[in-house]
Amino acid sequence: MKIGVISDLHIDNNCNEQVSISDFSRIVADEIGEQQVDLLLVAGDVSNNHEMTHQFIAKVKQLSNREILFVPGNHDYWLKGQEEKDTNKVLEYFKAQEESIIEKPFIINDNWAIVGHSAWYDYTFADKRFSIEELSEGSFNGRVWQDKLNTDWKLDDRTLSKKFAAAIQADLNKVKDKNIILMTHMVTYKNFGVKMPHPVFDYFNAFIGTSDCNQLLQDYQIKYNIMGHVHHRQREEENGITHICACLGNRNEWQTTDTVTEIKNTMQIIVI
Ligand SMILES: [Fe+2]
Repeated sequence: MKIGVISDLHIDNNCNEQVSISDFSRIVADEIGEQQVDLLLVAGDVSNNHEMTHQFIAKVKQLSNREILFVPGNHDYWLKGQEEKDTNKVLEYFKAQEESIIEKPFIINDNWAIVGHSAWYDYTFADKRFSIEELSEGSFNGRVWQDKLNTDWKLDDRTLSKKFAAAIQADLNKVKDKNIILMTHMVTYKNFGVKMPHPVFDYFNAFIGTSDCNQLLQDYQIKYNIMGHVHHRQREEENGITHICACLGNRNEWQTTDTVTEIKNTMQIIVI
């Protein structure tokens, strides 16, 4: 069985005069067909709007006629410009979609299952010189981490990270007799954080990853650990776990200007 992995498509940021938002679903569906992928995993940050994100996932599923599984990223939760924000309601919206695997692990077969959640950052990836109080501000050198403006979970980030890690553990328990693929949006493998020292990411790495899943990766002997968010394209094996980050990222981070080529170069394949 061939499983495709992709993340951080940012279809609203990446559309332009040549490539419309709806072109993205067609390009991804074409790539699924070309690679003969049986199942596609999307690790979040499709767009800055939950309805647009859901429409994209549904469209790719319809066009490709394949199973698509999804966890939302921080951008998919944004309620941009809305005065009354309750991000928990957006989480409920996503959980109600059939493609979401939050709180409902996907059983592939007798041997394999997929567990997924957005997860959240817990500040442990930042340089130690910053205090929790400084990191909680979410701003550094005049730059503001945009989740601070566009989400409101009614909880602090570190508590949210622990809450989501507990939800992941509950799901892992449901399939603990199987080989597990874990998919989060946030980075759960510290090597994939932005390399430090770095002029801004010594601070902003706080919002890239979490250490709350470290023990779970070991305890449940996760085979593949998929994530997004950091806009890298990496694959690394350590202690029997294959860590995968398959982010399209923003157009200004691409190596070419061609959307089809970039999506082709981004999608990673797992064969089980
Ligand atoms: Fe993200």
